Amino acid sequence: MARSSLQLNSEWIPKVEESLAIKQLTQRSLAERLEISRSSVSKFVNCKPVALNAFIRLCQELDLDWKIASQPEREWNDHIESFKFKQEEFKANPGGQVPPDEVIGREELIANLWERLRQQSLIFSGERRIGKSSILKKMTAEAPVDMLPIYRDLEGLRTPIEFVEAVWQDTETYLRESGKAKRVREYLSELTGSYFDGYQFPESAVHWKILLTKTIEDLVTLQDKQIVLIWDEMPHMLGNFSDRDAMEVLDTLRSLRQTYPDVRMIFSGSIGLHHIIKNLQKAGYSNDPTNDMYPIDGQPLDLDAATKLTLYLLEGEEIPATNLLQTAEDIALAVDCIPFYIHHLINQFKASEDEITAEKISDTINECLRSPLNLWKMDHYRERIDNYYNEVQKPYALEILDILSINPPTSFSRLWQYLKSEPETKDKEMARTVLRLLIKDYYLLQEDNLLGNMYTFRYQLVQRYWQISRGW
Ligand SMILES: Nc1ncnc2c1ncn2[C@@H]1O[C@H](COP(=O)(O)OP(=O)(O)O)[C@@H](O)[C@H]1O
Ligand SMILES: [Mg+2]
Repeated sequence: MARSSLQLNSEWIPKVEESLAIKQLTQRSLAERLEISRSSVSKFVNCKPVALNAFIRLCQELDLDWKIASQPEREWNDHIESFKFKQEEFKANPGGQVPPDEVIGREELIANLWERLRQQSLIFSGERRIGKSSILKKMTAEAPVDMLPIYRDLEGLRTPIEFVEAVWQDTETYLRESGKAKRVREYLSELTGSYFDGYQFPESAVHWKILLTKTIEDLVTLQDKQIVLIWDEMPHMLGNFSDRDAMEVLDTLRSLRQTYPDVRMIFSGSIGLHHIIKNLQKAGYSNDPTNDMYPIDGQPLDLDAATKLTLYLLEGEEIPATNLLQTAEDIALAVDCIPFYIHHLINQFKASEDEITAEKISDTINECLRSPLNLWKMDHYRERIDNYYNEVQKPYALEILDILSINPPTSFSRLWQYLKSEPETKDKEMARTVLRLLIKDYYLLQEDNLLGNMYTFRYQLVQRYWQISRGW
């Protein structure tokens, strides 16, 4: 029987990468050039079946002999089957709390995080919306028996004493059963001169360091598990503190980790801790308060998990599509596999009667990005430059993002040609520094291909937002 689809033999992946590099093509530009869907190109490079006609054209474009580069069809169908159980319960819920068993595609990462936590504390960073909090809450709900994770969102706390009070209240909740949490109570009773049995600190409780230490001591001594203090939006909270308070809190937490080596902490959040520490250094801080913590970079979902989530949501919301799996993959790819935007797009499609097509996906994304209601809160990408880049760095950041938003992956030397012709961006070392910062802040990626180091936007969604908001 004649085959209707073909897939790349994985031995040819290096050759495909080489051809892409020589021709200065990305997956996106290749799809545009051949007028085929991005998902076909993605399937092609991931060795999944692609329609025969598209496979041949892709091979021709990349100077491959399609008969040699193809391999017998694998059982991709099995894979589809595993997605196919009906998920009536899946509902679009952008930004809402997702029940732990509806957090898709994070099993391996979570297993790695637990493994790593047995050794040391973690800094778990990552772009906003990629699903960090969902991961941390799932970990809290489904911890190994010997671990006691305590999750707390710190956004909005404004002083160290508020922070310590929150930690203590969480501790009380966990220790209530043992009924023995007493160090903090005893200390507060001494401090106030009468027995303290409240659930909030008295006004006079200013000695936050002592209170924090006693809280941790109670936690460590009153139960047998390994404590994992999960603090979400930690950089956000530190940014609310005075410089002095932020320094003291960071130093105190570090020294607590040393004194109680069985206590683990996870600092998470979307604002890079590097900005906070850099600011503190300007105010004279010279410590490295997190050099004992292991940094982990959270990523969006992988394509399979993102497709699966989209498929469940399409089914759960009963949204019509001729080829559900293909539509799910197209949606997932169009939003860089970031789960928040998947939920959001499905939410948009819910209201419409029409069939979802590639064109409709792209139009809806553009509408959301253009929306004056700032639906996807993308203005944050522009505002972050104002808030966290200094006056010298700002023009570099804007110029670099402007250039890259309308160009294919670009080398440093080409970027520099543009930058040096502008009045405010004439320092080559500063250009390099700002490029590094933009990578750390998830705007950009540095790709290493045969032509050398190339810089490009990390997420096409952000690139598209940048083009629109800057009027390109
Ligand atoms: N693994 C996942 N599976 C399903 N939905 C998810 C997943 N991760 C995140 N989401 C959705 O995306 C939204 C944003 O995720 P969240 O965990 O708050 O991201 P972050 O903390 O990185 O900003 C959630 O409210 C939820 O709707
Ligand atoms: Mg979060």
